[in-house]
Amino acid sequence: MAHFKLAFLGFGNVGQALAALLMRKRGELKERYNITYTVVGIATGRHGRIINPVGIDLTGALELVRTGHSLSLMTNTLMFNTVDFIHKCGADVLFENTPVNHQSGQPAIEHIQIALEHGMHAITANKGAVVYAYKELTELARSKGRKFLFESTVMDGAPIFSLFRFALPGARLASFRGILNSTTNLILTRMESGETFQDAVRFAQKAGLAETDPSADIDGWDAAIKVAALVTVLMGVPLKPPQVERNGIRAITEEMVKNAKAEGKRWKLVCSAERDRDTVRSRVAPELVSPGSPLFGVEGSSSVVEFKTDVLSSLSIVEGNPGPETTAYGLLADFLNAVRS
Ligand SMILES: NC(=O)c1ccc[n+]([C@@H]2O[C@H](COP(=O)([O-])OP(=O)(O)OC[C@H]3O[C@@H](n4cnc5c(N)ncnc54)[C@H](OP(=O)(O)O)[C@@H]3O)[C@@H](O)[C@H]2O)c1
Repeated sequence: MAHFKLAFLGFGNVGQALAALLMRKRGELKERYNITYTVVGIATGRHGRIINPVGIDLTGALELVRTGHSLSLMTNTLMFNTVDFIHKCGADVLFENTPVNHQSGQPAIEHIQIALEHGMHAITANKGAVVYAYKELTELARSKGRKFLFESTVMDGAPIFSLFRFALPGARLASFRGILNSTTNLILTRMESGETFQDAVRFAQKAGLAETDPSADIDGWDAAIKVAALVTVLMGVPLKPPQVERNGIRAITEEMVKNAKAEGKRWKLVCSAERDRDTVRSRVAPELVSPGSPLFGVEGSSSVVEFKTDVLSSLSIVEGNPGPETTAYGLLADFLNAVRS
């Protein structure tokens, strides 16, 4: 039986969903994989930090956060800040799930760096760390005999990076096209049923998909950082979000959506990238999609990506209705892949 000590950095939607999933899967991990775990540390920004070397009561921690209390009520360990938490937590695996920074990837990069230097595997759903430090963090992980994994950064729990890592050896990715931002796809789908842009945005906010300030989704930044992550990792060409040609969905009017529907077409915020010799042309932009496209039938908050490789001319993955639970599964899959490899 292999036992692992886990630490959570960030205990919001994703961190809490991961805690719930780990609890649900505890028996299965033991029976199928001979793996047991204890969560020895949880740190947040404003809801306290806790370290307990013999294992944190996850149900209690979830209840504290749910009721707006500080996790610090459950610990005697003195911690000055997040970095101090990583130094002291004593974990084998750190899950980094703090908010994404589209401009620099910090402080997640520093968190992951320190964790790897302490000999932990580092697993994240945070796209910033991938687009701004993929090479450095991967090399550091390799030098320490550890893993830096990030399956949940694009299409949540759907196996995108591990598809190429494990299932498609020797395949060269030539291009991809997809719908990678759930919020804008939901907004466009709602507009097709007659809602105004503003009402559709409000619906997405109520559903917990769009932020209070939804501009990162609407203006295409979230889609652009995902394109940058795919190009950087799967095409081997480092790309930052500002380098992606980007147009959001603000210019799509109710009239345009209605006209497209009348022609049997749909507006989609399409993410794409294509190799051009040693460089890659990348783009996020609204496009009119016809029924023949794998993107056409993707409704609401679902997402899709179609890959073209030198060996498989078209391979598509569709993920239905993602959310924090599916993101948590991507993190769990990374954990199992890291400790079993
Ligand atoms: N939500 C999804 O379905 C989804 C899907 C794919 C990827 N992701 C990515 O996953 C990450 C987490 O998303 P989320 O939805 O869980 O966000 P969230 O609900 O806003 O939670 C973020 C967590 O990070 C904590 N935090 C912030 N700054 C911190 C710091 N410096 N040190 C330690 N903890 C800090 C916050 O604590 P306080 O609340 O106390 O400030 C909170 O616990 C993001 O990078 C996001 O882009 C999310």
